[in-house]
Amino acid sequence: MKIKVRKGLLEGSRADALAIFVFENGLKVLSGAAARIDKAAGGIIKELLESGDFRGKPNEAVILYTRGNFPSRRLLLAGLGKKEDAGVEVFRRAMACAVRKATGLKLKSLAVSLEIETGDAIESLAAAAVEGAALSCYRFDCFQKEESGRNCIEALEICEPDSVKLKKIEAAANCAEAACSAVLFARDLACGPSNQVTPRLLSRQAAACSGKKLRVKTFGPAEMKKLGMNAVLGVAQGSSEPAAFIEMHYKGNKPSAGTVVLVGKAITFDSGGISLKPADKMEEMKADMSGGAAVIAVLKAAAEMKLPVNVVGLIPAAENLPGGKAYKPGDILKSYSGLSIEVISTDAEGRLLLADALGYAAKFKPAAVIDIATLTGACQVALGDRVSGMFGTDEKIKSLLRQAAEETGEPVWELPLVDDYKELIKSDVADLKNTGGRAGGAITAALFLKRFVDPLPWAHLDIAGPAWSAAEKGYLPKGATGFGVRLLLSFLRRWPENQADRQR
Ligand code: BES
Ligand code: MN
Ligand code: ZN
Repeated sequence: MKIKVRKGLLEGSRADALAIFVFENGLKVLSGAAARIDKAAGGIIKELLESGDFRGKPNEAVILYTRGNFPSRRLLLAGLGKKEDAGVEVFRRAMACAVRKATGLKLKSLAVSLEIETGDAIESLAAAAVEGAALSCYRFDCFQKEESGRNCIEALEICEPDSVKLKKIEAAANCAEAACSAVLFARDLACGPSNQVTPRLLSRQAAACSGKKLRVKTFGPAEMKKLGMNAVLGVAQGSSEPAAFIEMHYKGNKPSAGTVVLVGKAITFDSGGISLKPADKMEEMKADMSGGAAVIAVLKAAAEMKLPVNVVGLIPAAENLPGGKAYKPGDILKSYSGLSIEVISTDAEGRLLLADALGYAAKFKPAAVIDIATLTGACQVALGDRVSGMFGTDEKIKSLLRQAAEETGEPVWELPLVDDYKELIKSDVADLKNTGGRAGGAITAALFLKRFVDPLPWAHLDIAGPAWSAAEKGYLPKGATGFGVRLLLSFLRRWPENQADRQR
């Protein structure tokens, strides 16, 4: 989708439809473009609202015809819901609804103005417009012969007469566009079937992102063996797909600015291994590399946006299958950092990958480490399919993640690292074991990770819930959502300022 920013009022646009956003019971508060257009067209919007046929609720959208009053033939009214509930996320979803309506009518272009009274800055509204539109158009249909018939509108036009505001909108829209293409990239990788999206393919995709300020190294099994990444190698043993360890370096600032390390779990298919999963919904486990895909996408976008940060991305990748050489319950693995792990369940494989990668992260003396992983069904049970679990040892990192989540509409909720539960992952024969039982499963998984990353400042995002959506909703597609990409990019945008605070 092409994003255009046009100098001028909405009503001057020649797009196939002019999008107009209305609050619920918004009759009294028609303002901005809606008020002007209503007046110029003899009160057609007011008439519609008075009739009660359109109430301005979320997910409501209707078409009106302009009958020659404007260069554009159609008005597309979309609901914003109650004014007191309004915000960027509401606008993002309303935008998605408008774009879906326009797409359904096979329109090619939609124009929008940001004269919307949600109380948000013009930059935030511009970003939300682009995100709502670009993210709702996604469909994973590259394997389908017939075009899915859902080809999206080709252009979104943002109209603004004021040149100062126009500049701000342009900058924010460009930034949002880069973030959105990173989300779509991550969705493609996660929706991609595991017979295509293997650890090697992820390595190739990451390598293809490299550029002047983005260096990418990938290690194969032999190099990983030399480095001592035996936990990742243990997980990969049951598959004929070789494991990979991807290391991406983006240098956007001087070394003294410090480094953020991002770690993403990339299990290209999680069958559970010898501790085999039930068959129901097992196909969704092709997306068990969503964390890794998010990290690759974030590094790609950070470089495109030229963010003033230094970021290292670490993506341990493997396939978890129950082959003849597979690792087994009772096996003991010696991790990169030297700690030994007794395998109780081969299905608790994600934490094994992360153990090696988090241990390896210390090498970069990072000012922050954040890992993102579809780690536990327990976290999905606790927080559902929209909210990521968050754990961590560093208040500043967690606080910036919360602020980022507020901005991007990718909610995080902190769960506690309960010290007493450390007993649950004590092993009789090794330094620790890889499961702690059913109760508090997301917490014991996080405590396991903590052993490998301590004492580095760290946060952990368990995205087992929000990485996948069972149905199309708002700007989320059915399937892989790309959760975490915009969140981490927003975190990285906030990070340099926070560093300046610390040095003061
Ligand atoms: N990849 C799964 C977690 C998962 C579950 C992600 C559902 C997305 C949706 C992970 O590897 C796993 O199998 N975890 C086990 C851990 C258990 C064996 C301690 C789980 O959650 O059941
Ligand atoms: Mn598993
Ligand atoms: Zn898994």
